[in-house]
Amino acid sequence: MCGIVGYIGNQQSSGILIDGLKRLEYRGYDSAGIAVHDGENINVVKSKGKLVNLVEKINKAPVRGTLGIGHTRWATHGAPSDINSHPHISGDGTIAVVHNGIIENYIDIKNELIEKGYTFVSETDTETVAHLIDYYYKTGVGFVDAVYETLKRIEGSYALGVICKDFPDTLVAARKNCPLVIGIGKNENFIASDIPAILHHTRKVYFLDDMEFAVIKSDSIKIFNMDKNEVKKDIFNVEWDIDAAEKGGYEHFMIKEINEQPRIINELVSMRMPKDKNFIDMSGIKLKKEDINELNRIYIVACGTAYHAGLIGKTLIEKFTKIPVIADVASEFRYREPVIDEKTLLIVVSQSGETADTLEALRIAKRNSARVLAVVNAVGSSIAREADDVFYILAGPEISVASTKAFTAQVVAMELIAFNMAIECGALSKEEFETIKSEFYCLDTKIGQILDESEKIKALAEKYSKSRNVFFIGRGLDYVVSKEGSLKLKEIAYLHSEAYAAGELKHGPIAMIDDETLVIAILTQEKLFDKTLSNIKEVKARGASVIAIAVEGNNIAAGEADDIIYIPRAMWSIAPVLAAVPAQLFAYYMAYCLGTDIDQPRNLAKSVTVE
Ligand code: F6R
Repeated sequence: MCGIVGYIGNQQSSGILIDGLKRLEYRGYDSAGIAVHDGENINVVKSKGKLVNLVEKINKAPVRGTLGIGHTRWATHGAPSDINSHPHISGDGTIAVVHNGIIENYIDIKNELIEKGYTFVSETDTETVAHLIDYYYKTGVGFVDAVYETLKRIEGSYALGVICKDFPDTLVAARKNCPLVIGIGKNENFIASDIPAILHHTRKVYFLDDMEFAVIKSDSIKIFNMDKNEVKKDIFNVEWDIDAAEKGGYEHFMIKEINEQPRIINELVSMRMPKDKNFIDMSGIKLKKEDINELNRIYIVACGTAYHAGLIGKTLIEKFTKIPVIADVASEFRYREPVIDEKTLLIVVSQSGETADTLEALRIAKRNSARVLAVVNAVGSSIAREADDVFYILAGPEISVASTKAFTAQVVAMELIAFNMAIECGALSKEEFETIKSEFYCLDTKIGQILDESEKIKALAEKYSKSRNVFFIGRGLDYVVSKEGSLKLKEIAYLHSEAYAAGELKHGPIAMIDDETLVIAILTQEKLFDKTLSNIKEVKARGASVIAIAVEGNNIAAGEADDIIYIPRAMWSIAPVLAAVPAQLFAYYMAYCLGTDIDQPRNLAKSVTVE
């Protein structure tokens, strides 16, 4: 939600800021802006809409200067407009601020500042921060202290980048509950909401922690806590490839990321399930027999796609350990006073590692003495740093707003965690484990076989692109994949789509089925195949068109479904990974046919750092 970037050094900053914003646009894309210090004054350029609009403005009237901050916005307070875009400046242009997050007490502060004579031009919470820093600065405390005094006053969440007209050599950054990294260069330094924004310039970063602020010059970085004590940090070396954050010849990040799945799954499986070992390598994760025996309940908490991956984990972990597992969406979990104690394990699943609700669920669990295991993609993210144990899915940067490769990697991670617990609990024999291992080792090839069918799935999307109502149905783990397939279709094709447990249809929603409805039925679960097939017959009898996603060998007779996508055979627990792939491709090609903005769908942002 919103991306911020900042630069201080001896190069012209505007190009660096724009380049950084391009790589952060997935975080928000309804408006953008930069503020550049030209040595005397701060010049601000902002524009509603995509970054190209801002670039056009800058090309017409370039701004020069070696210190600057930039922002790409996902609107929270006030509609997308030039005025509401960041950076926000104080009345006489002394202070400029970019902000990601929400200032919860901004109305009180705004009223107080209005009484002191400040005039507000935007509807944003962020403008309050600019004026408040200006207010303290004009009391004579100095620039850095003015930011510090402001941090003491504001409540809510923020990653901030601040510059001051009188200090062309200083960039101040601060963070609470929103991500912020500081890139360390040679005679130049950077700030950014996420690593890809600065990866072309440096691989060395500091992660700012909550309630810390940094005073950054071109040749120094000093980080302080809220007691104003300097904090010494370890430098984190970013190891992934720059290409991982580029499109690499694909038309969209989404299709690139879908196609990366065989490699990612192969790497994850090889790392966690060494071929010559008869165990799952859970190095650094406290899930031995004695740890599991201590548990009386497990929660799996996440949002959106990550929650769907968690649901698959729930089924498997409960089945093997016989410990009650409750899966919940984080925005509900955090407000419903769940029973948590020291015998609770909370597993949080998050691609970004920054989702506000998931992070808060983690903190609630920790406050109540539970152990927290995080299944995370973004290395060094807040969730990864605050959890007791981390299982990295190592999917590399996921740029497309719609999650694909992170989903299948999260599912594999949840399955590996579940199978590890099964081994520890004695619920899996050596032979069973060997079978599972060989199934995992074939997964990449099988996903590859599905990807080879992309053209066929594209043709199906073309055939059904006029559909306006789509139902996904399935039972057991197929129901979970239905939820994920339906979410993908909603978010990138903007189609009304619902996922239903196939057996639930006749308890109400079947009333909506008519000859304009498309039903996508997922049937990978052998023992539920006949049941779901009956449900297909019910919807066909009511005029729906049906696409079935079934495993090879489980033939569906001509006439039982209008179209069938066969996927390679796999054991019940692993089949969801395969079934997800045609669902992803179908959503992608539907969106393609409908001409939507696939990588940056309307109203969405990649990293949801507000509640
Ligand atoms: C959907 C999607 C979202 C995220 C959700 C959680 O394609 O990407 O539903 O899964 O916002 O995000 P993370 O995993 O970053 O916590």
